[in-house]
Amino acid sequence: MATYQEFIQQNEDRDGVRFSWNLWPSSRLEATRLVVPVSCLFTPLKERPDLPPVQYEPVLCSRANCKAVLNPLCQVDFRAKIWACNFCFQRNPFPPSYAGISEVNQPAELMPQFSTIEYIVQEMLGLTKAAASGQQGVFVFITRFLQPVHRVDMNLTDLLGELQRDPWPVPQGKRPLRSTGVALSVAVGLLEGTFPNTGARVMLFIGGPPTQGPGMVVGDELKTPIRSWHDIQKDNARHLKKATKYYEAMANRSAVNGHCIDIYACALDQTGLLEMKCLSNLTGGHIVMGDSFNTSLFKQTFQRVFSKDYNGDFRMAFGGVLEVKTSREVKVCGTIGPCVSLNAKGSCVSENEMGIGGTSQWKVCGINPSTTLALYFEVVNQHNAPVPQGGRGVIQFVTQYQHSNTQRRIRVTTIARNWADAQSQIQHIESSFDQEASAVLMARLGVFRAESEEGPDVLRWLDRQLIRLCQKFGQFNKDDPTSFKLSESLSLYPQFMFHLRRSPFLQVFNNSPDESSYYRHHFVRQDLTQSLIMIQPILYSYSFHGPPEPVLLDSSSILPDRILLMDTFFQLVIYHGETIAQWRKAGYQEMAEYENFKQLLLAPLDDAQEILQTRFPMPRYIDTEHGGSQARFLLSKVNPSQTHNNLYAWGQVLRGAPILTDDVSLQVFMDHLKKLAVSSSA
Ligand SMILES: *[C@@H]1O[C@H](CO)[C@@H](O)[C@H](O)[C@H]1NC(C)=O
Ligand SMILES: *[C@@H]1O[C@H](CO)[C@@H](O)[C@H](O)[C@H]1NC(C)=O
Ligand SMILES: *[C@@H]1O[C@H](CO)[C@@H](O)[C@H](O)[C@H]1NC(C)=O
Ligand SMILES: *[C@@H]1O[C@H](CO)[C@@H](O)[C@H](O)[C@H]1NC(C)=O
Ligand SMILES: [Zn+2]
Repeated sequence: MATYQEFIQQNEDRDGVRFSWNLWPSSRLEATRLVVPVSCLFTPLKERPDLPPVQYEPVLCSRANCKAVLNPLCQVDFRAKIWACNFCFQRNPFPPSYAGISEVNQPAELMPQFSTIEYIVQEMLGLTKAAASGQQGVFVFITRFLQPVHRVDMNLTDLLGELQRDPWPVPQGKRPLRSTGVALSVAVGLLEGTFPNTGARVMLFIGGPPTQGPGMVVGDELKTPIRSWHDIQKDNARHLKKATKYYEAMANRSAVNGHCIDIYACALDQTGLLEMKCLSNLTGGHIVMGDSFNTSLFKQTFQRVFSKDYNGDFRMAFGGVLEVKTSREVKVCGTIGPCVSLNAKGSCVSENEMGIGGTSQWKVCGINPSTTLALYFEVVNQHNAPVPQGGRGVIQFVTQYQHSNTQRRIRVTTIARNWADAQSQIQHIESSFDQEASAVLMARLGVFRAESEEGPDVLRWLDRQLIRLCQKFGQFNKDDPTSFKLSESLSLYPQFMFHLRRSPFLQVFNNSPDESSYYRHHFVRQDLTQSLIMIQPILYSYSFHGPPEPVLLDSSSILPDRILLMDTFFQLVIYHGETIAQWRKAGYQEMAEYENFKQLLLAPLDDAQEILQTRFPMPRYIDTEHGGSQARFLLSKVNPSQTHNNLYAWGQVLRGAPILTDDVSLQVFMDHLKKLAVSSSA
């Protein structure tokens, strides 16, 4: 039998799904007691070069309020040519085109390896045809103003080349006047009138905050600074609510049309991402933030928006609609990711909302192969009527979207997990725990809360969940912290929470409101691997003592004769230890007899290059050394195991508040956690 590790990996590779629990508790009460909800990270368009789409339409269950798609988990009577829906148990005849099926002649969608399958429906109407079917005026408008790039390539290049800086003088003490809100509404309106429900993206390039008209974020007087977290806390950010509302309405409108909005913001100061972020987070657009448009960092990131896949098609899809269907023991509570609700009520929808809930369908206007949604579920059965043993809960994800080659496609993923009795099989359930997925799923809930709740409240909530989880699964003698142990399947989880608490997703005070918005925006859409790097950066060490190796994200890893490479997702930091930095300064790498030192210096650069080649947005690249001003990027991330702030932590324990303290070492955090977990009064 495969281990859970193998099972989890296989499911991620094949279906783009990672569940918090891979055995499901058989009643609602037991599910609640597991603390981490039954939930999953789902990457609807995960790249699958080995999965060519089939050229026909999916077969649907005939029950009007079900319409689940035929899948490998359905029971099939080949003689009678009937299949039983595994969601509503309806018995459905196969369509006439399936007359030839038999045990040895099965369509792809019945084969176990096609738990994920993609269907092509029909060619989308071409642009002019789509327009012609609309109003005549629109058609004329389109042919007059819109041309395929190949026909106007030169003209476009000329136009861009002739662009001038805004010649209007900016008076002393003033900001340039920017009517970003109006410009955007023109763009959204143009697309709305010409290409509703056809894939399109608006690209907004901003070099400073909007300073006039609807959506203004700050006035044009330079002496009035743009809002800070401090202003926001004191309810002293004059334009915040109004501007946010304006952009949210614009985002809603764009979402209805199926268009996505990207924001490319390059400036040294804030530009208003806080107010504008909903444009991208509700429509699945990109946000890229940089110091200047004229940097290779920005240029390469921008080029990556247009990267192509193994078929030569753009890695962007449009107008995605994700629908979730559940077997009757499970309901969907909501999702967290770059989408809007389609308000589709139905029997699969829970009343208990988590994230964007109250629906079983969401619209994701801009979607790419790494777009990952977090979905949260609840077990329906009451404690006195648990789900019978031996059965499996089933969830089907149906994603409709427009491929960048204009084809309309449907991807269907059907997954099942066994039910387990949480009283007699708690150890099995425990070993089915996916601590990496769970850390990310809980982190998304935390980040979602942080958008509307005070920071300390969010930390307190996360702490409470962590303590409860440790109480549930830790082994210990009451009131004896030294006896506390966690099994292997949970052993890394507290550490993820430790780093998450210190991360820019939850700690705002070292960052501007724009920066926080930026970090959070990327956190709630990345896949598991990238999300984990964001929570707990990866640190590699290079030295003469052996091959490069991952080392603890801990201040004790910083040694004079090491080079460190840290990947935080947003930054790549290469840090030269004290001795290495001295050698480098002395120029040993230039001398033939120190060829191996030259190689040592190059090794982290090569590894960094590999990361730079795939990451979006391109990370900021920082080359620093012991004592360098940029070393703070590394120092702020490592566990401060060698500092002396422990007294503060113990002071908190005395007050008895069941929360964990900020800015302590992992050791102190763990000691504190153990104490609270084993305490009979906590
Ligand atoms: C593009 O430029 C050419 C040459 O200047 C000109 O003849 C043509 O009309 C232009 N096309 C459009 C669509 O403006
Ligand atoms: C945007 O849409 C959401 C969901 O339909 C709604 O709750 C919200 O009020 C809308 N916002 C604006 C500003 O229209
Ligand atoms: C997306 O934007 C909306 C509107 O500003 C906000 O309510 C929501 O929390 C945002 N989500 C994330 C994950 O930033
Ligand atoms: C962009 O940067 C290059 C090199 O740093 C510089 O030569 C050029 O003048 C810059 N262009 C603009 C428009 O600022
Ligand atoms: Zn059905």
